Amino acid sequence: MCPPAHFRVTYSINPWMDPGKPVDIPLALAQWEELRDRYRSLGHTVEELEPVPGLPDMVYAANGATVVDGRVLGARFAHRERAGEAAAHLSWYRSNGFTDVHEPEHINEGEGDFAVTDTWLLAGRGFRSSPLSHGEVQEFFGRPVIGLDLVDPRYYHLDTALCVLGGDEVMYYPPAFSKGSRAVLERLFPDAVVASGPDAEALGLNAVSDGRHVMLPQAAVGLLEPLRQRGYEPVPVDLTELLKGGGSVKCVTAELRPAA
Ligand code: ARG
Repeated sequence: MCPPAHFRVTYSINPWMDPGKPVDIPLALAQWEELRDRYRSLGHTVEELEPVPGLPDMVYAANGATVVDGRVLGARFAHRERAGEAAAHLSWYRSNGFTDVHEPEHINEGEGDFAVTDTWLLAGRGFRSSPLSHGEVQEFFGRPVIGLDLVDPRYYHLDTALCVLGGDEVMYYPPAFSKGSRAVLERLFPDAVVASGPDAEALGLNAVSDGRHVMLPQAAVGLLEPLRQRGYEPVPVDLTELLKGGGSVKCVTAELRPAA
């Protein structure tokens, strides 16, 4: 995670971002710290990445790389405003014991568009990550990639419209996907939690599951009951300041999946 010390909305690269709307930095920091402390109180280790002045979106740490089996595929950002973040992430991994670190050839925004289930690597495209990155990520991790087409600019990253809960279980918002991709999701995940419009608009799918607890934006109240019914414990968190940049729980959390 990367603290929002330099978080601002100074440009707009997704429909949630309005540079005219002020951000309360102390509040953003307090909300972010609460999520970090929540992870720690649940027994998870949280590493902190040093924020870089002039890279206001760096708080969305999930975009900096994808880590599977302890191996790291770096990011290459679609927008020049964020381009500088990629090197900061790569150097963190290289100086923190990760030896297999690959700089990508094609545009990919890390876990913003790549989601890992037990069987598949789900990969979003349409707004940010290049379809060519899907081949690259499959080759690098040796996991079967399922390409999914995003069609609604509000859900510009896969992790704004789909969340892996554990195993091969997901929750998602069908209207964010093309007709064909919806059919693929129904086929792979017939028992998925299907989110409503209001829950998706609260960025409720931008959640992190440890397989038991699901940390999610607190306004996504419609997801609580379906999650409980499937045996998960929802943990609502307030990240409203970070919503102003178009991200929430998952966007600010890069998962360091170790080797088995
Ligand atoms: N302002 C950032 C952008 O538009 C938000 C990134 C959100 N991150 C995510 N994993 N969806 O790039």
